[in-house]
Amino acid sequence: MWKFILLALFCGSFVSAKEYKICRSSSGNNDDECARIKKGDSSVSCVKVLDATDCALKLIKNEVDFGVFTPDELFLIYQVFPNRIKVSHELRHRERTEEIFEHQMVALVSLNETTGDLNSFKDGGLCHPGFVETQSFNDRILKEFERSATGSECNEELTYAENELLNLNKFFGKSCRPGRWVADQTLDATLKQKYPELCALCGNKTACSYTNSENHGHIGALECVKEKRGRVAYVALNYARDYVNNNYAKVPMFQMLCSNGTLKRLEFDNPCAWVQQRWSVIAAREDSADELAPKLTKWLVSSNSDDWTKALRDIVIRDDLTAKPLPKLIPHSVYLSENRTASSLDLPEYKKCGKGIHWCTINEAEKSKCQWVANAAAIFGITPKISCEKTSSYFECFRSISEGKTDIMTIDSHYGYVARKGFSLSTVIYADIDGEQSNVVLAVIKNSASSNFSSLQDLKGKRACFPEYGGISWMSFLNVVRKTNLTSHGTSCDFKQIASEIWSEACVPGIEDSNYKRLQISSSADGKSSLCSLCSEYNCQANDKNIYFRDDGALKCIENNVADIAFIKTKNLNDFTVIANQDQYRVLCKNGSLATNTGFNVDDNCTWAITIDSEVVSRNTNSEVDESNIVEVLLKLDKWFSYYRTPIHLYKQFNNTKDLLFKDSTVSLVSKTSDYKKIQAYKELMAETEKCSPSSATLSFLSASLLILSLIFNVVP
Ligand SMILES: *[C@@H]1O[C@H](CO)[C@@H](O)[C@H](O)[C@H]1NC(C)=O
Ligand SMILES: *[C@@H]1O[C@H](CO)[C@@H](O)[C@H](O)[C@H]1NC(C)=O
Ligand SMILES: *[C@@H]1O[C@H](CO)[C@@H](O)[C@H](O)[C@H]1NC(C)=O
Ligand SMILES: *[C@@H]1O[C@H](CO)[C@@H](O)[C@H](O)[C@H]1NC(C)=O
Ligand SMILES: *[C@@H]1O[C@H](CO)[C@@H](O)[C@H](O)[C@H]1NC(C)=O
Ligand SMILES: *[C@@H]1O[C@H](CO)[C@@H](O)[C@H](O)[C@H]1NC(C)=O
Ligand SMILES: *[C@@H]1O[C@H](CO)[C@@H](O)[C@H](O)[C@H]1NC(C)=O
Ligand SMILES: *[C@@H]1O[C@H](CO)[C@@H](O)[C@H](O)[C@H]1NC(C)=O
Ligand SMILES: *[C@@H]1O[C@H](CO)[C@@H](O)[C@H](O)[C@H]1NC(C)=O
Repeated sequence: MWKFILLALFCGSFVSAKEYKICRSSSGNNDDECARIKKGDSSVSCVKVLDATDCALKLIKNEVDFGVFTPDELFLIYQVFPNRIKVSHELRHRERTEEIFEHQMVALVSLNETTGDLNSFKDGGLCHPGFVETQSFNDRILKEFERSATGSECNEELTYAENELLNLNKFFGKSCRPGRWVADQTLDATLKQKYPELCALCGNKTACSYTNSENHGHIGALECVKEKRGRVAYVALNYARDYVNNNYAKVPMFQMLCSNGTLKRLEFDNPCAWVQQRWSVIAAREDSADELAPKLTKWLVSSNSDDWTKALRDIVIRDDLTAKPLPKLIPHSVYLSENRTASSLDLPEYKKCGKGIHWCTINEAEKSKCQWVANAAAIFGITPKISCEKTSSYFECFRSISEGKTDIMTIDSHYGYVARKGFSLSTVIYADIDGEQSNVVLAVIKNSASSNFSSLQDLKGKRACFPEYGGISWMSFLNVVRKTNLTSHGTSCDFKQIASEIWSEACVPGIEDSNYKRLQISSSADGKSSLCSLCSEYNCQANDKNIYFRDDGALKCIENNVADIAFIKTKNLNDFTVIANQDQYRVLCKNGSLATNTGFNVDDNCTWAITIDSEVVSRNTNSEVDESNIVEVLLKLDKWFSYYRTPIHLYKQFNNTKDLLFKDSTVSLVSKTSDYKKIQAYKELMAETEKCSPSSATLSFLSASLLILSLIFNVVP
């Protein structure tokens, strides 16, 4: 009997149609389609993914069956997963279904030119479409021609970007190359002044732009050659075709300059292109591709407009596209290498000039994300090159960067002082989060103890808890106390003495730990001090064995009546019950008054410090050029990998792990010269504390047991 039921169940599930899962990017407005796709006897369901990288990781783990990918995305995925993915359909434009490539870049010259020898175009002027805001082509596409045509001299005293401009200027002379040359606006303006010839052929020289900005500068570039201002236009083939075909008299105007040094009549079917990019595709897991492909073909051409296949078409065939089945299924590697001039599927390599950028990561998961980002950067033509190094802890990265083995990492502002004081690191760029989101340090007491606090003097003799020695809360407290001469030590840098004079007892995790030696600016003898007594049970350790460690821990101190007051960065609280019950607490303002209301929501004057959330740091001895190269790369990553359609999100989780490379709360990067209030306040705090120099004896090296520090990024080393 049971056997029979089981058999029936088995057959039942066997008969019911298999459901295929499609990747659906979670940004954008697509809930509707994913709801509609479930309609009736649907064979497809949605799986939310962040981006193409996320989709690929899920494909490999058998969590999804298929998705839509751009050629750049496919190329990125191929670097790590060279097998197990097959391409079944191409998504071509309805009016261009016979074209193999979606994009091709060509170099067009006037009909009176007689040779294709590149050297004969020296000082001839380049008409480039430019890097205008609307331009969606990445640097690899837009710079391919000049990167091959011009020289590769490298002046080590200039940034990578400036060397490119210099070589371009030396070769082509007066040109027009509109838009942003570098991501930093101030630097861009400086470069525009320094290389005015590169805007000299533009219609509007001051704005460095064509008078006709149609098609993102491509039409302006064509007119530039047509009017014989410059001798070469580097443009997209389809814009050139539209321009020539719309030309009233239809007289030939251009010929093509090929990369093998020949000229060729302009024909659109068989151009000599400098860059070719195929269409987006539908790709599937190898083991479901064979049975899925014919079904997809059927679903995608169905004209039934009110069943689930309509939703599938809405997801897959956006805009004016049409799905064209390939003659046969091919591995993605074959799709990428077919019909290409370059035969290799290696990552593009660019001219070497100066040093690359070595990103320090603290575990395998972070290194893996770093590698994907570095590959994506290479595919998008972002220079200089990024490489990724792995260490096993936060502190090891501090050391690695300070010794010049690696260059950058992101740190929570909590470690701003440790990184500066202990390892001579400094800010390269700030990571900004959405809104103000309580990036402040507060002194918190139990509301019921309010009557015991009415001025800063009342702090004396009380018991206090801090998240960690050397952390932002500790530094903010000392900064205020030193400024207000609350102790007999005035503005002395003997932090331990100042704190010992104020508190009867305290818990400052890490203060006795040899790992933090570099930070000790103390003349007082080491040994058990009152600054550890409240957490003595946990030996004053700066790790999770100490329940009073970190911001949640410090607050637990007052909750447990171990201390009267705690200093915390509220953004780092993870304990949601505390946040929900914050009305039990009251904030003591830095001027000694109690906040009018309970809870953590106080005005800025009441905070002990306003801080940023996190920052990217490097050595403070970097040359201006090295730093400028780093900033340029970071800003380019921010531009290309933080918005809606990106192959990989810089600020979102990767492979189900949060806070890798950057915190997930980051929304953008902000220049260190920014005049944002929080950045100014943070800088002042750091400058103030940096004035205290450590005693030379304690500069001996720190061993790094920074399990703890890596925990700030919530990852297990
Ligand atoms: C083509 O015409 C332009 C402008 O008249 C001139 O500068 C250029 O030298 C000519 N090229 C040749 C190869 O004659
Ligand atoms: C050039 O562009 C600037 C800034 O967009 C504008 O103010 C100026 O009027 C333009 N000049 C000409 C000649 O079009
Ligand atoms: C140069 O390349 C073009 C287009 O790829 C081709 O038609 C032509 O035969 C090549 N010429 C030489 C000399 O290789
Ligand atoms: C593109 O590649 C396919 C497969 O190798 C081949 O059949 C086709 O002729 C190629 N087309 C062109 C224009 O190179
Ligand atoms: C993703 O994480 C898993 C373990 O959770 C690991 O085995 C795998 O290698 C990771 N994949 C990548 C691409 O990092
Ligand atoms: C206020 O301070 C007094 C004296 O130190 C102490 O006995 C009392 O418990 C404190 N009140 C609260 C609510 O902490
Ligand atoms: C603190 O003391 C120093 C020297 O003792 C004095 O110069 C300074 O003005 C004092 N600051 C305040 C806020 O009282
Ligand atoms: C903070 O204090 C400054 C100077 O005392 C004052 O101008 C400002 O209005 C205060 N801001 C708030 C939000 O109370
Ligand atoms: C201290 O600062 C708070 C917050 O801005 C303010 O409400 C209070 O009036 C100030 N107290 C004094 C004595 O200035």
